[in-house]
Amino acid sequence: MNTALLALEQTFQASSLERIDDALLNQHDIELWIKRDDQLHPIISGNKWRKLKYLIRHALERDAHTLISMGGAYSNHLHALGFVGKMLGLQTIGYIRGECPSPLTPTLQDLQDWGMDLRFISRGDYRQLRHYHGWQDLPNLKARQYWLPEGGAQPLALKGIAEMIHEINIPYDWLCVPCGTGTSLAGMIKAASNTVHLLGFAALNHAEFLRADIAKLIAIPFYNWQVNLDYHCGGFAKTTPALLDFINTFEQRTGIPLEPIYTGKMLYGLYDLIANNYFPLGTKIIAIHTGGLQGNRGLTR
Ligand SMILES: Cc1ncc(COP(=O)(O)O)c(C=O)c1O
Repeated sequence: MNTALLALEQTFQASSLERIDDALLNQHDIELWIKRDDQLHPIISGNKWRKLKYLIRHALERDAHTLISMGGAYSNHLHALGFVGKMLGLQTIGYIRGECPSPLTPTLQDLQDWGMDLRFISRGDYRQLRHYHGWQDLPNLKARQYWLPEGGAQPLALKGIAEMIHEINIPYDWLCVPCGTGTSLAGMIKAASNTVHLLGFAALNHAEFLRADIAKLIAIPFYNWQVNLDYHCGGFAKTTPALLDFINTFEQRTGIPLEPIYTGKMLYGLYDLIANNYFPLGTKIIAIHTGGLQGNRGLTR
């Protein structure tokens, strides 16, 4: 294997499983555990590395020298990709949705510092890029350039997510995860036992498309999963006072840091479902902390 990739892999830490203990959970006889994938790496945290790992290996096997992808001004995916590129000595190009903000967001500033070529494009052009899924699909790709779709939404990404599921060594009934592109949920559906229920929480509104996208990624039918569309709190990266209150209280009580875009919304939704008796007494739930804490910079909370 590529020695720089091997060296990078050695900087990762194990993610722990942490049991949450509080009155609401006790009252509803729910056992809740958080898989702390935010602990994996200070920069490439959460589902980022899980999704990128096999894509990067694939790119290196093809002797790629440039990784190209897309994302917003706070994108965790681009942030992880830019760092990986720097660590592996690969060039990176990022297509960024919208105009260049002034000053740059902390995420974009890091990307620039790590040498990513930032290309700001209109929302229409950005939507167009969503049509390109395969690593060779981007029009006008040059030799040794490798395309990664938004959020790393590629079948190869599912392999790394499966490794996360295989690390879980306690019995459980439900797995929960926040959804952006639905790739992480798709990987979990394929890797988990079919006796387990899987519940994704959409981080954006009008996210009905997730069901079809996930079905396409998993390729064969499974009937043990759902995507909840009720806790987007007004849309992607939007917050409500109730969400922020929940996050502050949760962080103070547990010491687990959250961000309000993905994991914060999932836990907010999960607690609401628990309070409304959605799960039978005695249910054991594992919720995945998908990291992304870098995105907290620049957010007013
Ligand atoms: C921190 C974080 N959590 C969750 C997600 C959603 O993951 P997916 O796109 O695999 O649904 C993302 C976006 O990729 C993310 O950055």
